[in-house]
Amino acid sequence: MLLKSEFHPTFCPVMTVRTICCIGAGYVGGPTMAVIADRCPQIQVTLVDLNAERIAAWNDADLGRLPVYEPGLADVVARCRGRNLHFTTEVDGAIAAADMVFLSVNTPTKRKGLGAGQASDLRWIEASARQVAAQARGHTIVVEKSTLPVRTAETIQAILSAAQQGTEGDTKSFSVLSNPEFLAEGTAISDLENPDRVLIGGDDPGSIDALAEIYSNWVNPERILRTNLWSSELSKLTANAFLAQRISSINAIGALCEATGADVKEVARAIGSDSRLGSKFLAAGPGFGGSCFRKDILNLVYLCRHYGLEPAAQYWEQVVELNSWQQQRIARLVVSRLFGTVSGKRLAVLGFAFKADTNDTRESPAISICRDLLEEGAHLAIHDPKVGVDQITSDLGQGASASGLGLADEGSWQPAASVLEAVEGADAVIVLTEWGQYAQLDWPAIAARMRRPAWLFDVRAVTDAEAARVAGLRVWLVGEG
Ligand code: UDX
Ligand code: ADP
Repeated sequence: MLLKSEFHPTFCPVMTVRTICCIGAGYVGGPTMAVIADRCPQIQVTLVDLNAERIAAWNDADLGRLPVYEPGLADVVARCRGRNLHFTTEVDGAIAAADMVFLSVNTPTKRKGLGAGQASDLRWIEASARQVAAQARGHTIVVEKSTLPVRTAETIQAILSAAQQGTEGDTKSFSVLSNPEFLAEGTAISDLENPDRVLIGGDDPGSIDALAEIYSNWVNPERILRTNLWSSELSKLTANAFLAQRISSINAIGALCEATGADVKEVARAIGSDSRLGSKFLAAGPGFGGSCFRKDILNLVYLCRHYGLEPAAQYWEQVVELNSWQQQRIARLVVSRLFGTVSGKRLAVLGFAFKADTNDTRESPAISICRDLLEEGAHLAIHDPKVGVDQITSDLGQGASASGLGLADEGSWQPAASVLEAVEGADAVIVLTEWGQYAQLDWPAIAARMRRPAWLFDVRAVTDAEAARVAGLRVWLVGEG
């Protein structure tokens, strides 16, 4: 059992953190704690999760089977696991031993009840805060790491302070910080190792210092920003809303480029050279996916509406609507180019993850596009280097067809182990994720296996479209008129 550091209760607690517990060993908690453990060998870091299968995967001797795929993550885990990085389902013990507890649990959009479809479901946050309240010993700094609606810290504080008052002799005490994570999946390790900024929101300077001290092991102190709790929480929602807004903006312009003969890549280059706009996040595609953007904007919409700011709510809502429209537009376009019907036709779908270099499919545009094509009766052969059959089955709400094509007028899908297997007999190749390998496809070999007329729909504009044309395919590129 790990021992808590000695705590010196003063008016403003000064504390050097020796033990960390992180509740939630997912896409955020896993990589974040691995990097903290790597950069702070003096700190014992324990990741806990209720999901025993996930913890077993984090402890798997085969580092290729970690539950989260991120470039560079396996190396970091290999260096720290068993040394000062631990994965366990023993939540209570890890909380009791911790000087600092990170809450990194899932906060999906509510499915029913008040605020359904917009507000975040905070049941996991509340449950973990209650667990911290019950199990913590001495003084504990509780850090919000999950993306949360503004003023969630208040809920956490209320739960913790009830526990504090409930103990005899007041032996427990807590302070709450907001420390939103800005890592993007696929580049999580480099984002964590070289962050643009670290944001710490709170009202207890001693606790803020304790968390800043951890980051200062590898982050330039000038990049560690301190704000009040609410600014920190709102900054995370705002950053994601602005980023998503850029994608909806470029996708709206991409559709116009397709209609007018302009090329969205040229437009992006031209506007991105304006230093006020910058060149990043201007790639047109199938719309944004991932666990954060949609959820965070809907949260913002809910907040605006709650405070009676209807035009602001509608403004942000449009970013999400444009995104859904883009996905529907792509599916309709594929059907219309294939002579108005895909029923009984084999379509090779390349990429199912919401972006390259991750095995995450949450909110992946591939899900809605594939569902629409299945609805039209298509037979999909789906290839993704990192997403497994079980995940695709659960996302599409339908199992893979056992062999060959399904019934003629009913949509079906099959996993494909390679791109060449996927395209065998296909009428079209649809590129939905920008995996590096799709930029280097052997188009003559692909064309030879397809049924004519054969199409390439490159929804990420990442393939060698010219080579595909030369090989005899008809080519549609997102945003190209
Ligand atoms: C995002 C934020 O970037 C990150 O700071 C926050 O912590 C979590 O949410 P993430 O969702 O992991 O990160 O990936 P991101 O790189 O932001 O991509 C989100 C989606 O936008 C992906 O589906 C991606 O393909 C899409 N995208 C991104 C585009 O369509 N075009 C672009 O130019 C950039
Ligand atoms: P994120 O992308 O935010 O990291 P994930 O869904 O990948 O989200 O991870 C959140 C993790 O939190 C899940 O593995 C889930 O099992 C875990 N979790 C949720 N509630 C609790 C809890 N009360 N105690 C421990 N783990 C929890």
